[in-house]
Amino acid sequence: MSTQIRPTVVVLGVTSAIARATANAFADAGHPLVVAARDETELDRIASDIRIRYGVDVHTVSFDATIQTTTESLCERCIDVGGKIAGVVVGFGFMVDQSTGQSDPGVVRLTMDANLTESAVILERFAAHFEDQGAGFIVGIASVAGDRGRQSNYIYGASKAGFATYLQGLRNRLHKQGVRVLAVKPGFVDTKMTWGLPGLFLVATPDAVGQTILRAVQRGKDTIYVPWFWRYILLIIRAIPERIFKRLSL
Ligand SMILES: NC(=O)c1ccc[n+]([C@@H]2O[C@H](COP(=O)([O-])OP(=O)(O)OC[C@H]3O[C@@H](n4cnc5c(N)ncnc54)[C@H](OP(=O)(O)O)[C@@H]3O)[C@@H](O)[C@H]2O)c1
Repeated sequence: MSTQIRPTVVVLGVTSAIARATANAFADAGHPLVVAARDETELDRIASDIRIRYGVDVHTVSFDATIQTTTESLCERCIDVGGKIAGVVVGFGFMVDQSTGQSDPGVVRLTMDANLTESAVILERFAAHFEDQGAGFIVGIASVAGDRGRQSNYIYGASKAGFATYLQGLRNRLHKQGVRVLAVKPGFVDTKMTWGLPGLFLVATPDAVGQTILRAVQRGKDTIYVPWFWRYILLIIRAIPERIFKRLSL
């Protein structure tokens, strides 16, 4: 059993490579964790790995972002096992090939549900909890794909744009209560979500993203692009006039 000198952090979707790296970064900084995911076998494996590597307490909670009863009760179940919670990281997400979504309404719904609707349902509960507590932090992983709609990825991009706007409003609401909200916008990261995709460039490692998220929380940042240079790439992409942009094959 570890000596717990730091407050507990909740990481949702810890079977994601980025979320797992973020959980590792917080554990390495001495934070006990509550980790949550839908694959219970992998969840237990990851929890054991973190306990052994970093010597912190790790509790597990299962949820599926497509099952409302599990998302609506998630915050309370995390508090039940973890006690006082310092912050939550929403690390799960869903993306499949855009063409699949164009022909399958179920995929459009899954994308919006996981990345936006149920993420917001979950975070409203954490927001109310942190508001009562008068402290806390929320991290949401959006994406550079939400900064401008492109023909190759606009269903996923729309869900992430919605999530980024949601986080912005939440930050505005919670600022006076001492609760910080960080929106993370990664570019391409080497995970199973991007495995085998054509045209990837400037690909970051999940570990680098996890470390960057920890530092951004410690510094009280609002929005970060990861790696940083994506802020400038997106600045250029957003500046392209629509009459030109709509003719491009992006
Ligand atoms: N990789 C990139 O280039 C990139 C870029 C920008 C933003 N992001 C965002 O970063 C976050 C982490 O993604 P990643 O790259 O680390 O991908 P990943 O390794 O494929 O992880 C995706 C995670 O989401 C979970 N998930 C999907 N649907 C779920 C559901 N209905 N209920 C519960 N969990 C669900 C998956 O669970 P299972 O393991 O059970 O499938 C998995 O843990 C996502 O929000 C993603 O959109 C990624």
